[in-house]
Amino acid sequence: MHEDIKNILINEEQIKKRVQELGEQLSKEYEGKKVIMICLLKGAAYFACDLSRAMTIPVRMEFMVASSYGDSTTTSGSVAVRLDVKDDIAGLHVLLVDDIIDTGLTFARVKNLLQTKNPASIKTVAMCDKEERRMNGMEADYVGFTIPDEFVVGYGLDYAGDYRNLPYIGVLKPSVYART
Ligand code: PRP
Repeated sequence: MHEDIKNILINEEQIKKRVQELGEQLSKEYEGKKVIMICLLKGAAYFACDLSRAMTIPVRMEFMVASSYGDSTTTSGSVAVRLDVKDDIAGLHVLLVDDIIDTGLTFARVKNLLQTKNPASIKTVAMCDKEERRMNGMEADYVGFTIPDEFVVGYGLDYAGDYRNLPYIGVLKPSVYART
């Protein structure tokens, strides 16, 4: 275990098993449909790649970047889209994938934007769900793990750009963020 990690919340085996389950479930539910996965960079890159490979039906892949604004004391943060999808998604079934749903603002904003591009459907997939933190009633359609409100990193989740490539999801030691 990395020295900056207090404890492992979800280990590598648990992640693999859950990703496989989600992949099988999505493959059944989207059988015969044209699916495009839209991965929200950077955090979702790891999960989206694994999930797409766990699916047994054809899946296209697109990428978007959305950035949040506002500080933790405000309840009305806004989300700006920095990179939009390149391909036409009209008529396709969209799976919008993120590493975590926290306040719910990112999914809500991006989903609204994608609706204007006339997809056949849009569903959201989050590897982790910090449901206690929600501000807008947004719910992901598919969730890997519901997790407590702790500072977690790994499997795409970062602290100041670090720890994304840890193969597990772990709780960061408070001494690490006290350093900055
Ligand atoms: C994180 C995470 C989600 C978003 C979730 O992104 O990857 O996209 O926050 O939070 P929300 O539900 O409160 O909107 P971040 O802006 O840290 O970018 P990153 O993916 O590049 O780490």
